[in-house]
Amino acid sequence: MALERLYLDYNATSPLSRSVLDWLRKGEVFFANPSSQHSDGKASRKIINESKTALYKTFSLNEKETRLFFHSGATEGIRTFAASFAEMSRLANKNLLICTSAVDHPVSVSLASQYFGPHVKFFELKRDQKLHYQHQENLLELQKLKASDPDLIILYHHLWVHNETGQVSPLEELSKFKSISDLYLHIDAVQAPGKIPDWQGLAEGDIWTFSAHKFGALKGIGFSFFKNNFDFYPLLTGGGQQSNFRSGTENVQGVYSIFLALKDLLKINVANNSVKRKELVDFMSQELQDLGAVIDDSSVCSNTVYFYLYNLTSDIALALFDINGLEISAGSACSSGAAKESAVLLQLGLKASAKNGLRLSMPLEMDKEHLNKIQERMKLVFNRLRSSK
Ligand SMILES: Cc1ncc(COP(=O)(O)O)c(C=O)c1O
Repeated sequence: MALERLYLDYNATSPLSRSVLDWLRKGEVFFANPSSQHSDGKASRKIINESKTALYKTFSLNEKETRLFFHSGATEGIRTFAASFAEMSRLANKNLLICTSAVDHPVSVSLASQYFGPHVKFFELKRDQKLHYQHQENLLELQKLKASDPDLIILYHHLWVHNETGQVSPLEELSKFKSISDLYLHIDAVQAPGKIPDWQGLAEGDIWTFSAHKFGALKGIGFSFFKNNFDFYPLLTGGGQQSNFRSGTENVQGVYSIFLALKDLLKINVANNSVKRKELVDFMSQELQDLGAVIDDSSVCSNTVYFYLYNLTSDIALALFDINGLEISAGSACSSGAAKESAVLLQLGLKASAKNGLRLSMPLEMDKEHLNKIQERMKLVFNRLRSSK
């Protein structure tokens, strides 16, 4: 009998949620261009409008104060706002400082390697050895930079839930940064939905960016909310769709899938999942013993377990987990699949194991039976590793 595969890579991408699957199975896909004036086009426009209204409601945002557009995903969303702020600053003849941390998702880290113009500089947000943002130090540094260039515009990137470790950096901690004038907070909210209790509470921020495929909707679509308090310059221009925020024929199916997936997400019991996760962490910590360690603290979200093996690089470990039906992922790999040193493990001071990071990210709804299966399979892998030592 074929081995049942346990998919545990939800932070990379999630399977379609129940309502999205049911809808696709029915075959009622809306294909018409929402910009067209015929009846089918109007039906598509209605779907988009209703989905947008539901999105505003889900996040308790006001349509008058907050703008919303759909894009292809957070990679495009984050790049769009960097380019938009670079353009806004250039037109105002001001300098722009983009702030990211070295252990952010590569889409944010890589902004510093792009050329946005001579007026754009970068600032590395410091985190401590446990990966927590050093807010006070960062605030003081930014205040100094602002004092030396009072016109400076600052685009501050904040990673809400870390994609590898699952660590949560609460938005409330950012309120002090708003004392700096012309500082705008861009919240990378990609890993938050369904994984922390307050994922709908966009407590602080000027921009919030999401990717739909992380919470059960279709791939190739994401969305950003952004406040009315700054000028916006689109990355993609053309037909002027979406109020000119992002040109290109609108993705009605994608938008509708977000509406459906969010409905499913609202039913998730995050606290319950956190209990299951804790059980798994305790189990793994005990079973790993001499083989490796789990990286954990009380701030981790409800579905992610980040761990490493002392003597096995992640590329080889992944193959072993995979033959045993456990579909997990490596913290860091190059495109060929070879293990790379993980910025996260380096920051944690674990240089000797920096190529060994592994991430297990669980479904957004965990039950006891599933948890037992994962534990049995983990035990098998650990025993195999131990017997081959
Ligand atoms: C925290 C975070 N930000 C941004 C992204 C980029 O999202 P996408 O690949 O959907 O564009 C990801 C994807 O893994 C992520 O986890």
